[in-house]
Amino acid sequence: MPKDADARTAPAHVAIIMDGNGRWAQKRGRPRLFGHHAGARKVREILKACPDLGVKYLTIFAFSTENWKRTQTEVAGLMSLFRRYLEREAQELFESGVCVRFIGDRVRLDDKLVSLMDDLELRTAGNDRVHLTVALNYGSRDEVTRAAKRLAYEIEQGRLTHEDVDAETLARFLDTHVLPDPDLVIRTSGEARISNFLLWQSAYAEYEFVDTLWPDFTAEEFARVLRDYAKRDRRFGAVRA
Ligand code: FPP
Repeated sequence: MPKDADARTAPAHVAIIMDGNGRWAQKRGRPRLFGHHAGARKVREILKACPDLGVKYLTIFAFSTENWKRTQTEVAGLMSLFRRYLEREAQELFESGVCVRFIGDRVRLDDKLVSLMDDLELRTAGNDRVHLTVALNYGSRDEVTRAAKRLAYEIEQGRLTHEDVDAETLARFLDTHVLPDPDLVIRTSGEARISNFLLWQSAYAEYEFVDTLWPDFTAEEFARVLRDYAKRDRRFGAVRA
């Protein structure tokens, strides 16, 4: 595992759009789900690398609100992969100090999966070595819409007034309300799109688009991306003093 990261310049929160599983499988003449399984193994490798690289928060895009448009076989296969992943990895995640959270709308997910998600969140809530957030049935527009709806309800109930509505108040209603904003968003597979991922939270994030397909992404490449990030000059809209 690479040990060359500098914790002072490392991004505290890295978010990843894990793209390219399907193409990786197709290149091998295998079904798309074969690529998703390889992608799931890669999550473990990248997560394991985080503490040494100085990354405290890792957020991964596992399933978007738009991914329901895929074939029934692929959607069902992904849901079963998520269930199995949570069952198999729960103990290891807990023992290695990972605090797991999920963001996204749980309403459309099946009960068994939701119960595994709830259990894992509860079980790992006291961990603090690294914080893994899995975006599952997540889309930024959906998240902001749900937040606005709940905010409107609070106003309707008289617990808030329209004068209270500012960016900070709205952010308290987002799924990510306990997380810091991402410092760096990585997308694999050569596509340069954001795809409805953490739009609000990434207002000042740095972006890195790498050509590697997600199952081929390695801890070494991750470390390289973080070294490049460390050279960037983040000004958050201000000018350098
Ligand atoms: C995008 O690749 C990937 C997904 C929609 C699924 C991501 C899921 C995993 C990596 C599985 C593991 C996650 C967990 C939490 C166990 P794509 O299928 O769009 O690839 P393509 O662009 O090559 O078709």
